[in-house]
Amino acid sequence: MIYFDNSATTQIYPESLKAYLDTSTKVFGNPSSLHRLGSQAHRLLEMARGQIADLFTVQPNEIFFTSGGTEGNNWIIKGTALAKRQFGNHIIISDIEHASVRKAAESLQDLGLEIDYLPVDSLGIVQTEALESLIKPTTILVSVMAVNNEIGSIQPLEAISEILINYPKIQFHVDAVQAVGKLSVNEYLKPRVDFLTVSAHKFHGPRGVGFIYAKSGKKLQPLLDGGGQESAQRSTTENLAGIVAMAKALRLSFERQAVFMDKVTKHKELLITALTDFDKVKIFSPDTSDFIPTILTLGLPSVRGEVLVHALEEREIFVSTTSACYSKRGKMPSTLGAMGVRQEIAEGAIRLSFGEQNTIAEVEQFMLAFRQAYIQFEKVTK
Ligand SMILES: Cc1ncc(COP(=O)(O)O)c(C=O)c1O
Repeated sequence: MIYFDNSATTQIYPESLKAYLDTSTKVFGNPSSLHRLGSQAHRLLEMARGQIADLFTVQPNEIFFTSGGTEGNNWIIKGTALAKRQFGNHIIISDIEHASVRKAAESLQDLGLEIDYLPVDSLGIVQTEALESLIKPTTILVSVMAVNNEIGSIQPLEAISEILINYPKIQFHVDAVQAVGKLSVNEYLKPRVDFLTVSAHKFHGPRGVGFIYAKSGKKLQPLLDGGGQESAQRSTTENLAGIVAMAKALRLSFERQAVFMDKVTKHKELLITALTDFDKVKIFSPDTSDFIPTILTLGLPSVRGEVLVHALEEREIFVSTTSACYSKRGKMPSTLGAMGVRQEIAEGAIRLSFGEQNTIAEVEQFMLAFRQAYIQFEKVTK
């Protein structure tokens, strides 16, 4: 079995799973309880927060635990709209944001939120030049992802930061879900960034847990009110085992990042070279410094992505269409659409995404399987 769908989710590290099990079984108290078991749980919670804050070189009180990327993005979009409503009702998001940013914003349109979309070029990279002309006196938030989940393009956060330095009242959010463990922190947590979204299951941590970084002093309304956990910013009993296991996975993925990136860069180069043999194959994630090496999105015109996915699955290779969230709905993939890729080509796209466990032997086996599938579909693509 070859698992090349690591941008959808990763296999949990054994060390992270052990941390989860140990915490669940040994430290089962509620961190809010006044007794000894509660204090023990509280200490562990704050220790995990401190470790995460250290890895990101931020303050522990700027880290808030969530259930993952979707919640983090919804919180920052909706929480900013609510907290800053007396200052404005306009937000700018890129045209290739994950559905959890785009739909969170669009859900507020009926309540008066105005959205402008920052366009991307034909490679899927945000056109920074367009930003300044979209900013209005009522703009309260700009949201641009660090790395696109469908093709792996790295977004120009430095250039956006430089523009936003002149607009200190606009909050700047970066969805870093696909960047953590692949880029160094300073490539996405720029000094001008106010909010960051992170999700554990994308870096070999458990599902259903993540965190946001919220710069001290920035305005964000809580979405979950209740018992006052997370400094009253997100009430609900903390997922302590998940949080501890996430902190473990984060540290390990940071430690292993350089070796992993080196290996995967070679794998991607090899694949791209091998794919040049197939003249109908379109590559949407070139091996340049504008793209992370863990994603390779390619397409065969006139063959639907899901047909290719299943043809590879028959050969025990697991990939996805361009985004797992869109795959089941069979909709036009949003990033390729925003790049101006023609629909019949976009619909033929598949995404290979690599994780730490993948080997060169798997890359070679993939090429053999792809060759067979290509021959099978070649007649259709004429
Ligand atoms: C860029 C991006 N943002 C947000 C999410 C949502 O994360 P989660 O699955 O943790 O809700 C994903 C998941 O694919 C993603 O790729």
